[in-house]
Amino acid sequence: SKPKITVIGSINMDLVTKTNTIPKVGETVLGESFFTIPGGKGANQAVAAARLGAEVTMIGCVGDDAFGSELKNHLTAQGVSMENVKTIPETSTGIASITLSNGDNSIIIVSGANHFVTPEVVKQHEHIIAESDIVLLQLEVPLQSVIEAVQLARKHNVRVILNPAPIQKLPKELILQVDYITPNEHEQEMLLSRNDMTDEELIQVKEKCIVTKGSKGVMLYQNGETFIQGYKVKAVDSTGAGDSFNGALAFSLSNGAALKESCQFANAVAALSVTKLGAQAGMPTLQEAEEFISTR
Ligand code: RIB
Ligand code: NA
Repeated sequence: SKPKITVIGSINMDLVTKTNTIPKVGETVLGESFFTIPGGKGANQAVAAARLGAEVTMIGCVGDDAFGSELKNHLTAQGVSMENVKTIPETSTGIASITLSNGDNSIIIVSGANHFVTPEVVKQHEHIIAESDIVLLQLEVPLQSVIEAVQLARKHNVRVILNPAPIQKLPKELILQVDYITPNEHEQEMLLSRNDMTDEELIQVKEKCIVTKGSKGVMLYQNGETFIQGYKVKAVDSTGAGDSFNGALAFSLSNGAALKESCQFANAVAALSVTKLGAQAGMPTLQEAEEFISTR
């Protein structure tokens, strides 16, 4: 049967502007092009896992605006179960204003309806969490809700992956309770530079870490250090590369693969994702991913 993954997280519309010059404060510049593209870390990770063949349930919120209904339809069409996504009246759907300039991006996020993914909403879906193989979490919904989700997953012996993005200060109990944490290099530094953990706890946290290093690859710390080399691809847009990695990791682990093997697979999925513009464009099917891996 298909692996069951529950994503509790954000749903955004990405408003993407391509420009050669980034304006300084008070300056106006002419941009190159503009796109309205589905995004949000939660939704992106859900799509990555669904495209690979997982049975994905999304728990989240959209606003009662055009973006909200568009995103619900879009995600349903991608094979993500959206029955547990609430529409919040008189609230805007989450957006990310993204500036793409010469391969780099900068992002402003406005949470909107994502803010309404409360601990109560998470509690209402305990039965869904209980039936999952893996729960996949990020930090674009309120922290208390992430904490609630981890506790419920623990209660039902369900594995948890926490993608600590965008990074913020996290209670140490939360970090110590999840099975896997997937920071980038900067986020890992923030996770490990704290004075409220014993040396032993810091080692424990490090061993849970799967560090994504962009085009360089991935680093694991279980049974010594393991480095997985990144693939060389022509990068068009790195937005959502981390999300592709997380969705693929959840898929592969819940499909029964070992950690290192799952990271190698997720590494390939992330590489493919950056070859197309938009967070979700470029996320491969299982067949596409396997073909890519076998030809490299
Ligand atoms: O991780 C990429 C995502 O972060 C974008 O899709 C954007 O919505 C922001 O939330
Ligand atoms: Na992409």
